[in-house]
Amino acid sequence: MTDLDRLYGEFRRQFGGEPKVYRAPGRVNIIGEHTDYNDGFVLPAALELATYAAISARDDRTLRVRSLLMDETVSFSLDETAPKPRKHWSDYVHGVAVVFQGAGHRLAGADVMIWSDVPLGAGLSSSAALEVATGYALLTNTGLEVDLTRLALACQRAENEFVGMRCGIMDQFIACHGATGHALLIDCRSLDRRLVPVDPKARLMICNTGIHHEHAAGEYNMRRRDCEEGVRRLSKALPGITALRDVSADQLERHADLLTPLVHRRCRHIVTENARTVRAADALEAGDLALVGRLMNESHVSMRDDFEISCREVDIMVELNAAVEGVYGARMTGGGFGGCTISLVDADAVEDFTHRVADGYRAATTVEPQIFSCSPGAGVGAV
Ligand code: GLA
Repeated sequence: MTDLDRLYGEFRRQFGGEPKVYRAPGRVNIIGEHTDYNDGFVLPAALELATYAAISARDDRTLRVRSLLMDETVSFSLDETAPKPRKHWSDYVHGVAVVFQGAGHRLAGADVMIWSDVPLGAGLSSSAALEVATGYALLTNTGLEVDLTRLALACQRAENEFVGMRCGIMDQFIACHGATGHALLIDCRSLDRRLVPVDPKARLMICNTGIHHEHAAGEYNMRRRDCEEGVRRLSKALPGITALRDVSADQLERHADLLTPLVHRRCRHIVTENARTVRAADALEAGDLALVGRLMNESHVSMRDDFEISCREVDIMVELNAAVEGVYGARMTGGGFGGCTISLVDADAVEDFTHRVADGYRAATTVEPQIFSCSPGAGVGAV
């Protein structure tokens, strides 16, 4: 029995009736880290790993949500006047419903059952996958047209305003607009997007360090504040700027005296990362995997030394990745402070890579890493 069969089976057994099932993918970011909330560029790909939402309509105003992974059911009324987060996985679902209703969509009541094979809390956007899968399911269940960009924005808003995480738009946007075999260059200011084919001779190897730092969300919000402070101080000399997206590397160095050394390092990561991301998209398009790999390596150094979002285990993993023959480049992916690395690896080298990296990481940390060999999958849709 596949996991999807199990989802249908459990739905029938616990809720009764025949559900519709929708799927939204996790994502891996190839390059462009923390640039999204600086109005910059990112280059993620959707994964085949995904979150599934099985749904059927109810004839009252209740939203009943069950997570098979958490083995828990929660209910909310769609008529509650002051909905509050509970610091619970269900906040992602509840928040999306609250945002839609706040925007004037009267949602139909529903039974929803969730299942996922995106590793949780590993930096592969399990939360965006949950928001987008349930958001798509709730809209469709109500008989509403889904506009994918609006769906992404609503899900980001749910996370910003209801869950309380000040994330950018990358994760929700790629979960909506991802396409099989492609990475997506996103301009996070205009929301213009460009699909970039990933040469099938390369695989995206994702290694989960198994480390998840509790303070990650607090550190994330602090990085945002550092970037905002950089813009505020730099705008004394560069009056037209509204985000670090508007600052060139030359301008940053010319006006470095306006910044504290720490804020200068934070800004340098963003400014150089934006340039690397645009170059990497062009190089990927041109099939120049060696250049993409070099830019990924540089991105890791910049995250480690300037943005300071890496940690010991991630650095060990990146070094182990980079040392294998057939690896074009390796870096940490996602928000930081643990989670996963991504490497661009020659398809012929995947087996060797998997053994060497697993052995090396186990020996260095005593932790057994999860290693996934991925190619880009599709964005949200019906199963
Ligand atoms: C998290 C956020 C994204 C993005 C990345 C870092 O995944 O949800 O918006 O900022 O971190 O690139």
